[in-house]
Amino acid sequence: MKSAEIRKAFLDFFKQKGHTIVKSDNLVPQKDPSLLFTTAGMVQFKPLWIGAPLEYSRAVSIQKCLRAGGKGSDLENVGKTLRHHTFFEMLGNFSFGDYFKKEAIEFAWEFLIHVLKIDKEPLWVSVYKNDDEAYDIWHKVIGLPKGRIVRLGDKDNFWGPAGDAGACGPSSEIYIDLGPKKGCGRPDCSVGCDCERYLEFWNIVFPQFDQQKDGTRLALERRGIDTGMGLERLSFIMQDVNNNYETDLFKPIISAIQKISNVKYSTANKPAFHVIADHIRALT
Ligand code: ALA
Repeated sequence: MKSAEIRKAFLDFFKQKGHTIVKSDNLVPQKDPSLLFTTAGMVQFKPLWIGAPLEYSRAVSIQKCLRAGGKGSDLENVGKTLRHHTFFEMLGNFSFGDYFKKEAIEFAWEFLIHVLKIDKEPLWVSVYKNDDEAYDIWHKVIGLPKGRIVRLGDKDNFWGPAGDAGACGPSSEIYIDLGPKKGCGRPDCSVGCDCERYLEFWNIVFPQFDQQKDGTRLALERRGIDTGMGLERLSFIMQDVNNNYETDLFKPIISAIQKISNVKYSTANKPAFHVIADHIRALT
């Protein structure tokens, strides 16, 4: 499935579930001076969880994001891993005081399994360590075996706020097991390991706190849902390729770099090609 088809399938699916399609916001946030760049789909919606007037209570977007510098930067990882990019597109569905955990997890599963027809066997999920509600939804409602649901802590399963204040909360992430050949081989390698085996590709956040600048967390005016799925990672999963850089999003760039530099894309110089391709995309 081409990346353009994935974008359309995502928007169509959530539109049919009552979501308003909202355009990608400016890469430089106009209303949040605490953020240099737009780092997530939720940035343009931050006021809606804390009580700003609502034109819709469900939204879907494909947000152009830049994580290059500051909090949450992925700049240092580019070229070292096959999954990090400074610029990427985030597929996201959002609820502002509307649906919560159960519907968000059901929507995600329906989209992956019934629309994209991804095999469910290699899929794993993580939930926040004490989030029994999300655990039970995955196990009892979706039917995921307990052996493929992992409880993780703040580093992996608590997200936000973006910038210095606002909506944040526990999250549940969806991973695909790419097999032992991609792994680090450590006996304790599992979901949450930094190696390339378990690829996290969809983060479903349950914003319920309004974090203040001093770090205190109040209850959000409108709790809801904030999700983000990397188009580059999903395209890799949906295309018969080895990593993000071989998808239709990157292949033409890699080919152009070969042509202009007169250097062949080979095992030894792949990281350099990946850095150049990533940075060219971000700058453009
Ligand atoms: N805001 C969440 C993230 O960026 C979905 O991962």
